[in-house]
Amino acid sequence: MLKNILLLNKPAENQSAYDYHLGLLRRDTVVKPVIFVGAGTCGMIAGAGKTLNAIHNYLHEKNIDAEVVEVGCIGLCTHEPLVDVQLPGKRRISFSNITENRVESLLDEILNSVIPDEQVLGQYSHPHHEAWEQVKLLAEIPFFRLQNRMVIKNCGIINPFSIDEYIARGGYKSLTRVLRNYSAEKVCEIVEESGLRGRGGGGYPTGRKWKYALNTPDEERFMICNGDESDPGAFMDRAMFEGDPHRVIEGLAIASYAINAKRAYIYVRAEYTLAVTRLKHAIQQAEKAGLLGHNILNSGYNLTIQVREGAGAFVCGEETALISSIEGKRGTPRPKPPFPALRGLFGKPTIVNNVETLANIPAILDHGPAWFSSIGTARSKGTKVFALAGKISIIGLVEVSMGTTLKDLIYHIAGGVKNGKRIKAVQLGGPSGSCLPEQSLDVEIDYESLLEAGTIMGSGGLVVMDEDTCMVDIAKFFTDFLQRESCGKCIPCREGSRRMHEILENITRRPLNESGFETLERFKGVMQLGNLAEVIRDTSLCGLGQTAPNPLISALKYFREEFEEHIFDRKCRAGVCKDLRLYYIDVEKCTGCTACAKKCPTTAIIGSPRNPHFIIEDKCIGCGICFDVCKFVAVFVK
Ligand SMILES: Cc1cc2nc3c(=O)[nH]c(=O)nc-3n(C[C@H](O)[C@H](O)[C@H](O)COP(=O)(O)O)c2cc1C
Ligand code: SF4
Ligand code: SF4
Ligand code: SF4
Repeated sequence: MLKNILLLNKPAENQSAYDYHLGLLRRDTVVKPVIFVGAGTCGMIAGAGKTLNAIHNYLHEKNIDAEVVEVGCIGLCTHEPLVDVQLPGKRRISFSNITENRVESLLDEILNSVIPDEQVLGQYSHPHHEAWEQVKLLAEIPFFRLQNRMVIKNCGIINPFSIDEYIARGGYKSLTRVLRNYSAEKVCEIVEESGLRGRGGGGYPTGRKWKYALNTPDEERFMICNGDESDPGAFMDRAMFEGDPHRVIEGLAIASYAINAKRAYIYVRAEYTLAVTRLKHAIQQAEKAGLLGHNILNSGYNLTIQVREGAGAFVCGEETALISSIEGKRGTPRPKPPFPALRGLFGKPTIVNNVETLANIPAILDHGPAWFSSIGTARSKGTKVFALAGKISIIGLVEVSMGTTLKDLIYHIAGGVKNGKRIKAVQLGGPSGSCLPEQSLDVEIDYESLLEAGTIMGSGGLVVMDEDTCMVDIAKFFTDFLQRESCGKCIPCREGSRRMHEILENITRRPLNESGFETLERFKGVMQLGNLAEVIRDTSLCGLGQTAPNPLISALKYFREEFEEHIFDRKCRAGVCKDLRLYYIDVEKCTGCTACAKKCPTTAIIGSPRNPHFIIEDKCIGCGICFDVCKFVAVFVK
């Protein structure tokens, strides 16, 4: 019924019954209490599963008739498990950190219209619902106020298992309009005119890319949604799949139509089990509703979408490796050109698009290209979703207009750094990206501005580091990740990234009994680090190798003195590099109990029973065992 009336403009047989049904789906009307639980992966990790059980038990024991709805992540991962309650006639109100032990007291109060003293986040605004007194609007808290939520606007709000809720909020309207009114060429033109650029990191104009595939003569074409997302710290795709899967499916269906593809794939890493389940369920629903499959909405257009699960290899996010993986081959990149738009999956013209790119498409077709291009900067249109991680007050998911400064994003939306510490650096773009020091955070979020500032937009991973972070350790972490993820096809990437990691390992370790020759070799490695990085960048086949030196080069550029301290003074100012820590014994506190000497793996501690002990610096490897075993707090670190 809903599909016919909303999408196909058929008159309702009983208008008032229809309006009432629509009101229920949009939650304009609720006839009994509705309890929403943030049940995305972040919520589940924080204990939402137990919270859900506790809610069901509570309702059962007290014989209360209420609806319990599992929603995706609204972005406030730090505050999970999140529970919202909407009582008939009243506004939906949101509570944070509702672990299972807090369920009873929360429901005892809120179901009796009493607001608990703690854990109230805010209330949703609604013109016809009675407001809760002295509860601020969610939209007014800084985390939401400065965002522009277009792509993730339904995440955490609607039931991701309900296609009807998505349709009731305007979903599948754009697909219907496209199939009924536009040619494939027209859709490509609209998207090109909007200025949308690929959100997978490269920023290539989406409409232009589609046109290449559409204009390549062939009988068959393929469309692929790239949800590999294997870079550490990124979870944008996961949140969109889990919180609003139909938006991605609608975007993918429109993109498929635009390039005249009859088969499309969503490539998701298999570890995203919740995302895979919700996507498969949503595809089935769309097929059942006639929005996918044969002769969609009587348009003559056929489309099937399949979910393909990848094994979580970072390199499989690279489009040619991803294509090989779908073909059932080993996921390794191949040289480009030919680009996939000309010869891709099974040798046919293929477009690979990022999840966020596709999630933008329904709104562009709904509101028009001029609307979209009015948001953002001259060169970067629309919004960008970021997954915030690291030493930041709010770890979560945000969406801001292009042109917002990194400073606003970090300080005003995400609440700055934890414990009032200073930011040392911000890493954008994951392992392929670069870090920026605090003084560069005035830069606007815009593809070119970020490049000029020395970093990249990336796909949305943003890691904040504070003064307790060691930049050498960070460079080592990313280099280690890349050497393990290199597919090994080309030598500069395979061997070069391994060598880069070895050099960084060497400078974060206190060499024991090192010969003069070994010391010389170690210094030689350090001196050659810059050259090595250049060779890897210039001679690797794919983006993984070409960008592998980025984290190291940027850390060297902005934090050179930290590298020098590690190399020359054997000192890690942040105290992170365990092997460089120096341990001492306070003779005033040491009772001579001998516990440390017995446990020291290198016999670096000397002393006789009941007399103060000492550490021989040259023999100490900084393992910290003495620090842990001393009951008299006599061991300290410098
Ligand atoms: C090592 C590597 C990993 C990548 N991982 C992803 C990924 O997880 N998701 C993604 O959309 N693009 C990823 N890309 C970029 C894709 O190759 C491709 O450019 C992108 O999916 C195109 O989509 P867009 O035009 O919508 O940005 C990766 C590239 C490289 C080199
Ligand atoms: S650059 Fe690295 S990941 Fe890319 S093809 Fe070569 S070895 Fe494989
Ligand atoms: S364990 Fe502590 S008190 Fe005992 S000998 Fe070692 S430093 Fe001294
Ligand atoms: S840090 Fe480890 S190696 Fe050094 S003195 Fe203590 S126990 Fe021994």
